[in-house]
Amino acid sequence: MIERIVNPQTTDVSESDAVEEQVLEGLRPKTFASYTGQRLLKQNMIMAIEAAKVRQEPVDHVLLYGPPGLGKTTMAGVIAAELGANIRITSGPAIERAGDLASLLTNLADGDVLFIDEIHRLPKTVEEVLYPAMEDFGLDVMLGKGPSAKSIRLDLPKFTIIGATTRAGALSAPLRDRFGHVHRLEFYSPDEMIQIIQRAAGILGVTLDREAAEEISTRARLTPRIANRLLKRVRDYAQVNQVDTITRKTAREALHLLEIDDLGLDTSDRQLLAAIIEHYQGGPVGLTTLAALCAEETTTIEDVYEPYLMQIGLLQRTPRGRQVTPKAYTHLGLIPPSL
Ligand SMILES: Nc1ncnc2c1ncn2[C@@H]1O[C@H](COP(=O)(O)OP(=O)(O)OP(=O)(O)O)[C@@H](O)[C@H]1O
Ligand SMILES: [Mg+2]
Repeated sequence: MIERIVNPQTTDVSESDAVEEQVLEGLRPKTFASYTGQRLLKQNMIMAIEAAKVRQEPVDHVLLYGPPGLGKTTMAGVIAAELGANIRITSGPAIERAGDLASLLTNLADGDVLFIDEIHRLPKTVEEVLYPAMEDFGLDVMLGKGPSAKSIRLDLPKFTIIGATTRAGALSAPLRDRFGHVHRLEFYSPDEMIQIIQRAAGILGVTLDREAAEEISTRARLTPRIANRLLKRVRDYAQVNQVDTITRKTAREALHLLEIDDLGLDTSDRQLLAAIIEHYQGGPVGLTTLAALCAEETTTIEDVYEPYLMQIGLLQRTPRGRQVTPKAYTHLGLIPPSL
């Protein structure tokens, strides 16, 4: 499968990518002040943290959900830092057995933050241990086997769980209900994207003017992770071509080479839209059919392609399936069917 530069998910393949991830790690804001956008989420968390500090209690558990690359992991780090708390990082698939979770929890200290990425992928048996832990900071342990077995309850430190997921719908209701704060991460506005790009440029030591930042922002799918990646590619292009200050022209040339159009769509997105138009007269078409048509997993269509295409109004979800909008026709240089 070809690696898509506009894929909002992290890529973890080659060594050069590992280095790339490290560079990107340095771009993560560490405080609310340097975390651009997501105003409502920030306001709520600032308030919750202040209140918790006054009461000397842990903050209620936090669930962050939304498309990849919008800053869930980053926000978890910011919350922990602003709390002055230690953060332990794990993920749903990494906790295979109830015992794994038990040892994680018993090793926490009062006030610690436990970040569980991809929390929708926690095994059911682990989830059941998590319920009493989240609710009463208790852990039920079975001692012995057979008829003489008995259950005792261990007290756990008072911690905060921050869960992150791209698919809130895949979370069981009892798990979701145990989070006091549930927040959806939103796509960033073009202005916020420009701020994020200018900040990242500052950290990377790249000089670019506002128009260049604008150019990158419109193609980065309103997603900071993609913006950072595009910025690095533009920087490479500028370096090879011995450009000191990156202007709109340089940015355009660099992005043109990557075949990303002015809405941030790449060939795969355009193929998806074109397939719906060609084979299904614009839709509606079911998710599984669409996935087969593009030779992609249904989850990839749902997590990677759709959120942004819907955000910018090229694709709609209807009860009968996915449908392209007249704007999608125009964007592909086609004439929309008359209504
Ligand atoms: N609000 C923000 N301001 C500035 N940069 C941001 C912001 N949010 C995210 N970023 C940048 O975008 C990158 C991706 O963010 P992050 O890893 O937090 O996304 P995520 O939502 O956890 O994605 P995933 O669902 O793939 O885990 C980070 O490296 C960070 O530098
Ligand atoms: Mg993440």
